[in-house]
Amino acid sequence: METPVSPVDQRLQEEFKQFLGLFNWQPVIKVLRPFSVLTVADIGARNFAFAPILDEHFKAIGLQAIIHGIEMDAYRRLINFHTRADYGHYYAKSIASGQYHPIDFLTWNQPLQIGFLLNPFVTREALLAWGLPLSLLKPEKIFHHAYSLLRPQNGVLVLSNIDEHEIEISYQIAKDVGFVIGERATWFPQTGAPPTALPRYGTILYAS
Ligand SMILES: C[S@@+](CC[C@H](N)C(=O)[O-])C[C@H]1O[C@@H](n2cnc3c(N)ncnc32)[C@H](O)[C@@H]1O
Repeated sequence: METPVSPVDQRLQEEFKQFLGLFNWQPVIKVLRPFSVLTVADIGARNFAFAPILDEHFKAIGLQAIIHGIEMDAYRRLINFHTRADYGHYYAKSIASGQYHPIDFLTWNQPLQIGFLLNPFVTREALLAWGLPLSLLKPEKIFHHAYSLLRPQNGVLVLSNIDEHEIEISYQIAKDVGFVIGERATWFPQTGAPPTALPRYGTILYAS
């Protein structure tokens, strides 16, 4: 693919980099250090534009990682006739160890040490806004599945939500399935950001 990194992706990548920079990673590094190579998943990865940022991040904190992007809505045609999967495979190839999986996360069975569950659908409104049927609203199943893959490794889930209401719903589910809430940090759009830029309320959850 030519010129795959759109201005929108560039902005989202920059925002995500700033978001990751808000956390103290030392406690997470302590948990993940025993693993020689981490299995990392971006769950609901969209077009996997965060792959290069995640790759940089794990290098910067001194951990080796295989980074998987998992996206169930991967084959819808974008305005330029490409699909998210086209971009997903491109971004996966752009890093040392990346793979894009156009599948439902609920069918993924490989154990994980760290997952990124960034802006998951936890309300009907969010799902409808993304043009998806309500039958796909399964937040309890997603959190439970993530927990079951992370728990044997005492793994970590990095969560982000777009507002306080979604945080409240996510925390209730996360606690119900067994996660322990760790550090919180919020990224806010900066002056000049487009109106579509949303805050990212971040939380580190421990499956331990
Ligand atoms: C609100 S978007 C967030 C996209 C991206 N993670 C971000 O933070 O910008 C939620 C994404 O999760 C995907 N998704 C929802 N449920 C999923 C599932 N069960 N398996 C894989 N992807 C899923 C959706 O198709 C959508 O791309």
